[in-house]
Amino acid sequence: MDNIDCAKQKIRAVIAGSQVPEDPRHADNTLEWLLRLEPDAGEALQLAALAHDIDRAIEEVKVRRADFDDYDAFKAAHARHGAELLRPILAVCGVAGDTVDEACRLVEVHEVGGDPEADLLKDADSISYFDVNLPLYYRREGWAESKRRSLWGYQRLSARARKIVENIGHKEEVLTRLLREVIHEHVH
Ligand SMILES: [Fe+2]
Repeated sequence: MDNIDCAKQKIRAVIAGSQVPEDPRHADNTLEWLLRLEPDAGEALQLAALAHDIDRAIEEVKVRRADFDDYDAFKAAHARHGAELLRPILAVCGVAGDTVDEACRLVEVHEVGGDPEADLLKDADSISYFDVNLPLYYRREGWAESKRRSLWGYQRLSARARKIVENIGHKEEVLTRLLREVIHEHVH
């Protein structure tokens, strides 16, 4: 097994322990969307896609929403902690230093983007929320919180990614209705 496969396997094993039921599916689905958006995505970007929410997987140390007044401050702390957790996993697998640095940098900026690679990760992550997280999120959090989270997620999509999300269909009629409202109400 090469270094990158070792790292992917270890990342998946950590995320499998998450108490958030959508997390394992979301990690692989974000990687799938990344490769659909950019089939030539490099190793660092692929590792970051798989690992970006690794902070959420470790209950004892994860960053908690209740500790932050501001949702964006919470998300920034979540991203920074994820990068800290990822670094030793990549090192143990012998991933090259510059790839480790870049993967951790990308995890740290995955909520905000800011350069072409980080923007790809942000789009893949956000599309995946609408693709696989939303049904479970809705069941757990209900209409108001799911709509707030969806507006926040839709707002951060590129024009290209918005077109993709507009074509995502859900079996549950209520989710289709929620998505329609989000698309019509977001700030242009
Ligand atoms: Fe995510």
